[in-house]
Amino acid sequence: MTKNTKNVGMRSPLFYVGDKYKLMPQLKALFPENINTFIDPFVGGGSTFLNTQANKYALNDLDRNVIGLHDYLFEQSQNANDLLAALFEVIEHYSLTCSLQGKSVPDELKRRFKKTYYAVANKDAYNKMRSDFNGNKSRTNLLYLLLIYGFNHMIRFNRNGDFNLPVGNVDFNKTVKLALLNYNEFVNVNKGNVIRKSQDYKEFLQSCAISKDDFVYLDPPYLITFGEYNKFWGEEQEKQLYAFLDILTHAGIRFGLSNMVTHKGNTNEILTKWMARYNVFEIKSNYISFHDNTIKVTSREVFITNYG
Ligand SMILES: C[S@@+](CC[C@H](N)C(=O)[O-])C[C@H]1O[C@@H](n2cnc3c(N)ncnc32)[C@H](O)[C@@H]1O
Repeated sequence: MTKNTKNVGMRSPLFYVGDKYKLMPQLKALFPENINTFIDPFVGGGSTFLNTQANKYALNDLDRNVIGLHDYLFEQSQNANDLLAALFEVIEHYSLTCSLQGKSVPDELKRRFKKTYYAVANKDAYNKMRSDFNGNKSRTNLLYLLLIYGFNHMIRFNRNGDFNLPVGNVDFNKTVKLALLNYNEFVNVNKGNVIRKSQDYKEFLQSCAISKDDFVYLDPPYLITFGEYNKFWGEEQEKQLYAFLDILTHAGIRFGLSNMVTHKGNTNEILTKWMARYNVFEIKSNYISFHDNTIKVTSREVFITNYG
């Protein structure tokens, strides 16, 4: 693995909202030791699979654009230098700033817009790239750069299916390069052993021939938090998921589920009731401070397992 100086997991180059990379050291310690196939039905940016040792990987996300980005990174990651060169060519074509290459924001703009100079410098170029992508959505390289230069690195489309995220106050920097190199390394080690699908998690899990030495890690949308991908997740989906996990348990399949029990004063009662019959581990996340009682606890994140 390319050196990561902080004591956190390897970060996915999708910089996904809800990314688990900071929690990977805690989660990995709770994962089973020997995993044949690591099955991730809500893969998102993929920080979990990138940080998990297994013989094979089965990845899925309902969002086709997310899987499209993984497909792109898999296909292009055979050679990291070629991938970077191709992205730099697009950056050059649109005249976006690129701090990694020393193409920085002019000093004049930095002085005038102290906190927003990347957004100011890149706005027009970003909007042009976005309209080119919306004119031809097969250009996943543009989608990837829209995500890198976009607000909070989000993947957001409007009802007409057009990408509609505004420019962010970031550019292509050394963190992006490190994440791409790490992803590239994973791809080159595991190339032939990864399948990717874009289906509802249930359909996907039913299509996998899951055996007892496999491990299903689930990080679904959280019922009590807010986010783009929580839009289509409600109480019914929550109940169905738990009923499905009970079926996996009866079949002797190992699973681990990440979720939020309380958040900003709300409690997920369905989860609280259901998890009582499983192993529940407290996860120290950004939101919580249960080891430091001087900080007000507003969230409780857990990892729930049916093994060990
Ligand atoms: C909390 S995020 C996963 C984040 C991921 N663990 C990471 O580190 O980036 C939940 C993901 O579930 C996906 N999703 C939502 N509903 C789904 C469904 N019914 N089946 C499969 N995936 C779904 C969303 O698109 C989103 O990417």
